[in-house]
Amino acid sequence: PMRNPAIPLPAHIYPNRRNSAGVDLADPLVCEDLQARLEQLAGAQWGDDGEPVRSPQDGSLVGRAQTASPDEIDSALTQARAAQPAWDALGGIERAAMLDRAADLFEAHTAEFISLCQREAGKTLADSVLELREAVDFLRYYACEARMLFAAPQPLPGPTGEENLLRLHGRGVFATIAPWNFPLAIFIGMASAAMAAGNTVIAKPAEQTPLIARLAVKLCHQAGIPADVLQLAIGDGRVGAALTSDPRISGVAFTGSTVTAQAINRAMAAREGPIGRLIAETGGQNAMIVDSSALPEQVTRDVMSSAFQSAGQRCSALRVLYLQEDVADTMLAMIRGAFEALVIGDPAQLATDVGPVIDAEARQALDVHVEAMRTAGFAMWQRDLPPQTAQGHFVPPTIIEVGSITDVGEEHFGPVLHIARFPSGGLEQVIADINATGFGLTLALHSRIEAARKLVENKARVGNIYVNRNQIGAVVGSQPFGGEGLSGTGPKAGGPHYITAFATERVTCVDT
Ligand code: SER
Repeated sequence: PMRNPAIPLPAHIYPNRRNSAGVDLADPLVCEDLQARLEQLAGAQWGDDGEPVRSPQDGSLVGRAQTASPDEIDSALTQARAAQPAWDALGGIERAAMLDRAADLFEAHTAEFISLCQREAGKTLADSVLELREAVDFLRYYACEARMLFAAPQPLPGPTGEENLLRLHGRGVFATIAPWNFPLAIFIGMASAAMAAGNTVIAKPAEQTPLIARLAVKLCHQAGIPADVLQLAIGDGRVGAALTSDPRISGVAFTGSTVTAQAINRAMAAREGPIGRLIAETGGQNAMIVDSSALPEQVTRDVMSSAFQSAGQRCSALRVLYLQEDVADTMLAMIRGAFEALVIGDPAQLATDVGPVIDAEARQALDVHVEAMRTAGFAMWQRDLPPQTAQGHFVPPTIIEVGSITDVGEEHFGPVLHIARFPSGGLEQVIADINATGFGLTLALHSRIEAARKLVENKARVGNIYVNRNQIGAVVGSQPFGGEGLSGTGPKAGGPHYITAFATERVTCVDT
């Protein structure tokens, strides 16, 4: 009863596109093979020159990466400008072939990417597998889109006998500025969409995760994408600021904090030259609402993955769990049971549920928040960290009981879950409180009541609603991802409207 009647998919939507199969970690032989490859790669140093990149898990050296100098950024921009018309003229079919080849090469380097996800970003094995799958899915999805939308002009009606043709073209040079929490998937997702649409790209990875981005760019070049079409610009916010304030940039795709997106918006507005386009995917204050008709086991499982998988470092992650008062104690007891069983530690171990957070700064911000909540008198449960985590940036998984979402303040990007209670009949007020935060990314509802689902769908101003499941792990092409308000500009990544945001439209009208 909770589902809408099935609507058949139009046959022309993404013919022949399949999502990546990934790595089946449930198959012991596959798993053993992968673990053996990962052990071989465990000591690899990724690059000899530049700034050291250290693992958040234990501080060990993963490799080195050279920061782009102002001169290098300047010449990258000049080259990207010069290369764009030919790349655009190549058309959607040829660009798509290169993106598909890149996807194949990514899959052929599964162990390298997984090793880097673990060592450079502190991701668990399961998260690393999902990350690579998503990256491959983005490449193939935007390749399909390029074939559909950028191969031939679209004829439009000519009421007086004239011929009208609509063409999509790249806008110019895009700067893509990626986050560390999806150092491969979002990094390549934004860059591949921009390239599929006929733009040249200067891609800036997060300063914490340049090595995985460097491998991704190298494989894209091996797949035939010219070096001046996709250029890597490694560095911190200064590199980002140099790119976004330059009038040679036609657009910026950014994923990261709301504050940084607002700063980019201002920098783009303040510069001379063409009006730039900003596509920003930012933070969230994501809630899950559980009413008395929900299934407790299902809720427990989905709360654990939504709040603690990826150490809570997903923009989609659950931050505030709303439990209906009359079932709150029962639910809380089950949730606490599962919480006490979370395995904290080395992301390379298959059994690990919660790895480190990305760096010392992230850990400190989370510790400060938890201490402030403790001082304010909120009840909380906190796990002890095992001794082997002492060398890394680990935050103890924490549950804090609050009055409502307004007690939580800003987004806290880590394994910290807030829980609030709401009275029977209070659903509409809860949705109003969530909307009042201004964020609108993910929202989960656990309920068997049709009217509750309708109320959420009609009133919640969020981009991704999940009913009776967890709220992380949006699948490319099936759950296009992205929010509204303080959570981003849209359009949604991995959805049918994304790639056209990177394009400009031209119409030719030929009279008879
Ligand atoms: N796209 C990711 C997810 O759905 C979040 O960034 O979990």
